[in-house]
Amino acid sequence: MHFYGSTGINSKGNLEIGGLDAIDLAREYGTPLYVYDVALIRERARGFKQAFDEQKVQAQVAYASKAFSTIAMLQLAEEEGLSLDVVSGGELYTALAAGFPVERIHFHGNNKSREELEMALENRIGCIVVDNFYELNLLKLICNEKNTMVKILLRVTPGIEAHTHDYILTGQEDSKFGFDLQNGQAEEALSAALQFENFDVLGIHCHIGSQIFETTGFLLAAEKLIEKLNKWKNKLSFEAKVLNLGGGFGIRYTKEDEPLLPYQYVSEIIKEVKSLVSSFSLSMPEIWIEPGRSLVGDSGITLYKIGSSKEVPGVRKYLAVDGGMSDNIRPALYQAKYEAVLANKPLEKADETVSIAGKCCESGDMLIWDLPLPKQGDEDILAVFCTGAYGYSMSNNYNRLPRPAVVFVENGKSALVVKRETYEDLIRLDLPLK
Ligand code: LLP
Repeated sequence: MHFYGSTGINSKGNLEIGGLDAIDLAREYGTPLYVYDVALIRERARGFKQAFDEQKVQAQVAYASKAFSTIAMLQLAEEEGLSLDVVSGGELYTALAAGFPVERIHFHGNNKSREELEMALENRIGCIVVDNFYELNLLKLICNEKNTMVKILLRVTPGIEAHTHDYILTGQEDSKFGFDLQNGQAEEALSAALQFENFDVLGIHCHIGSQIFETTGFLLAAEKLIEKLNKWKNKLSFEAKVLNLGGGFGIRYTKEDEPLLPYQYVSEIIKEVKSLVSSFSLSMPEIWIEPGRSLVGDSGITLYKIGSSKEVPGVRKYLAVDGGMSDNIRPALYQAKYEAVLANKPLEKADETVSIAGKCCESGDMLIWDLPLPKQGDEDILAVFCTGAYGYSMSNNYNRLPRPAVVFVENGKSALVVKRETYEDLIRLDLPLK
């Protein structure tokens, strides 16, 4: 079994996270429960920043808050000196409520509404990553109306396929995101943006995909973008201050995954950008990146109580937990794989193979297929690893299951950072027929 960060086994033989017994956490806060190892989030954040600092490269590491956006998490990101990527009015609202420094907030999205853009401008956020011509014109209109300046990046699609699950590819040409770099749209957008005096065009952005294990895709993207920047320097007299290479750095969900460390991804990117920039005699831009999953993914563990089981003789044993696709939709949506242990006997030898079912009324609500486990007792606690990214943030109330609580643990202390939903919460917005 692979343990992450400050997760390990305590003297009772139970799973321990951040110095606390997982069984005690489940007892105190109930299940299902999302538990975050705060020290590991800090370690990941520092890994990304360290490489930039050592190489003395101006940079922003913007946490892609779609991975897990709550007030406490954004305050932690701020403590670690990260910037922030938001993709909706709701994520921006959360950032503002967390007191996140507005100048370090970047606003993404392929269909930002007028209200969202106005909210961003009124709050003077750091920059808007303009995705398409519609947005470029709308933003121009709003800047005129408000007589205000705005810093922008242009999102481009460099036509690079990152090797990962199809549904989460965003960098290829046939994409709903960004201005195409090859067919001239990006250049057209840039020259239009440069003509409008209320835009301060900082540079360009791309995001080539998610859960990427190698640096090749990032290096290739850097090359394509910098080649274009060189062309635009000559043709449009435009020199980018910022090169944003997006997120997508992979993490280890199971033993099949072999990601690099944050420090390694960044070091190779820096090396490549420096060499490209010098070969074209361009001035070195700031490098911005936007990790989401790799900052919070492996620090999250979900604790479930085991309930019913069903044996299908000669086929398999189903073991059901008290959550499922409502708190982790990734297995159902992407066939995502996870590892898990019984938190009260994590090291005990497995003596059977079971499949972990959720409690939602849907056959596809399976969390893990074919998991080796020791014999289970009543009320055992199952700990599923690496649920920190896109778990809580994609959670839902299917079957009217209340969303679980979220607890942060660090140095032997726990803090409730999101309350468990109640049944009253579930009907809070409902109105009666008459
Ligand atoms: N920047 C941009 C522009 C993005 O679109 C994304 C993710 C990120 C940064 C952060 O990517 P990360 O470092 O977390 O891979 N729900 C899917 C992931 C969708 C990612 C969408 N964009 C999942 O659960 O795997």
